[in-house]
Amino acid sequence: MTMETTFQHALAAAIAQRRTFAIISHPDAGKTTLTEKLLLYSGLIRTAGMVRGRKGGKVTASDWMGMEQERGISITASAMQFPYKDAVINLLDTPGHQDFSEDTYRTLTAADSAIMVIDAAKGVEAQTRKLFAVCRMRRIPVLTLINKMDLPGRPPLDLMTEVEQALSIHASAINWPVGSGSEFVGIVNRADNRVQLFSRTAPGGATKVEVATMTLGDLAKSARVSHEALAHVQHDLELLEIAGNPFTREGFLQGEVTPAFFASALTNFGIENFLDAFVDLAPSPGARQADREDGSEMSVDPIETPFSAYVFKLQANMNPKHRDSTAFLRVCSGRFERDMVVKHHRLNREVRLSRPHSMVAQERNTVEEAFPGDIIGIINPGLFAIGDTISTAGGFNFKPLPQFQPEIFARIRPTDVGKRKAFDKGMWQMAQEGTVQIMRSLNDLESLVGAVGRLQFDVLQYRLRHEYRVETVLDQLPYTCSAWLEGDLSTFKPPSASMMVKDRRDRVVVLFGDNLMKTIARDRNPEHILRDMG
Ligand code: G4P
Repeated sequence: MTMETTFQHALAAAIAQRRTFAIISHPDAGKTTLTEKLLLYSGLIRTAGMVRGRKGGKVTASDWMGMEQERGISITASAMQFPYKDAVINLLDTPGHQDFSEDTYRTLTAADSAIMVIDAAKGVEAQTRKLFAVCRMRRIPVLTLINKMDLPGRPPLDLMTEVEQALSIHASAINWPVGSGSEFVGIVNRADNRVQLFSRTAPGGATKVEVATMTLGDLAKSARVSHEALAHVQHDLELLEIAGNPFTREGFLQGEVTPAFFASALTNFGIENFLDAFVDLAPSPGARQADREDGSEMSVDPIETPFSAYVFKLQANMNPKHRDSTAFLRVCSGRFERDMVVKHHRLNREVRLSRPHSMVAQERNTVEEAFPGDIIGIINPGLFAIGDTISTAGGFNFKPLPQFQPEIFARIRPTDVGKRKAFDKGMWQMAQEGTVQIMRSLNDLESLVGAVGRLQFDVLQYRLRHEYRVETVLDQLPYTCSAWLEGDLSTFKPPSASMMVKDRRDRVVVLFGDNLMKTIARDRNPEHILRDMG
């Protein structure tokens, strides 16, 4: 074998191992608990529970840091890497709760698949819908985990129907729960009708569960399950056989069908089964679409194309003494090595990637090499903007990242009119970094900002104050959704309670009081297109 083919084989093997994914869910559905169980079943932690800092608290940087030092897990503020059986997992962080922002959406663009966690009592909730819409647009395959089966919840068949109707996707049950609430004792794998019966080993699922595998006939003889529950499972399984959606991996990869699993992340019931299926089904990093310099399209193959990556997130340093930020790159092709010199396509210059790191809070750990699907952080002295492509070969740009529909809007102005210049400069920079979206009224007289989460406005005002010495007044506007307008502006009939503005690329954006107004606008203006993503 030549050196080159040996290198390509090693690269192909590293790529085949990788699963780069994000968890999409509504707050409290169980994302943190599932993450913790991934670590438990990967063998990185022996007792679950340590990921939570305090009661009700989320994963904290210091918890991760301790774990990283102990176990050599590579964690960034944006992604966490660890082995699971034969796979190398890159779990992207999708902040929810108060941190929900455009970054959450943009992070999804760096994922090759997503796990959608649904609370069995609540069904498909608002934030899940929004994140799912991004997966659909980016053609990211989605696995569904119906969680909290140990609590009283809705009937499994209802939940399957809701996923299908709320998200317009076929759902195909890979397993089915035996019992529910306190009677949830196992799952049936539909492919072979084998039952996994679980026994709790420690309170709160701190350690792995014991699993007994058996047939449905054996299960009937077990004292663990009531006749009623068993009859229910058999009835549901027969119904699914006749009326359920078949599962094909092709359909899953195309985003047409989502494989659905039932589990309880808290007690670990069904979790290992799910994780194994995830590693089996989820795709490893594939080719990504890009535009050549002459405008023609090309596909960037992870093996054939030498190193390339793009910036999907910038994280500003909140410490005013350190102005630099971190640019998070997703490696798309080839092998990354520390200190490599690459082409920065937008700036048309070379840059040395000399301090690549994974990062936990202020602690930085140097990364020596990385492969397609991996995430690396680079200190950004103002060189990188969201969507930038870097590579060793040059000659193409990855498709620009979409802008996501803002849902909160405000007028903003400097308190001191004399600070207008610094204000404009700061706003331009914040928009470039994707902190907020900047807009102007159609007559150019007013500055507006749009965001997905309130936190983005707080960050904007904080950074304008500390980095540009500009105090600002922000008046929130009564709009809750928006769309990019395509078509003749003079013939567009806006509904009441709407406003038309321009984005920073001079595209017209319509702001609506609510979604009903947006639907009315679409109905009234069939000749126009109102896009949710720009
Ligand atoms: P999130 O990251 O998606 O926001 O959710 P998280 O995992 O933090 O879970 C939210 C709450 O739901 C937590 O309870 C968690 O223990 C609980 N939970 C998660 N999965 C399951 C499950 O399968 N079954 C049951 N019964 N509960 C589950 P909490 O009381 O808010 O937090 P804590 O006090 O337990 O830390």
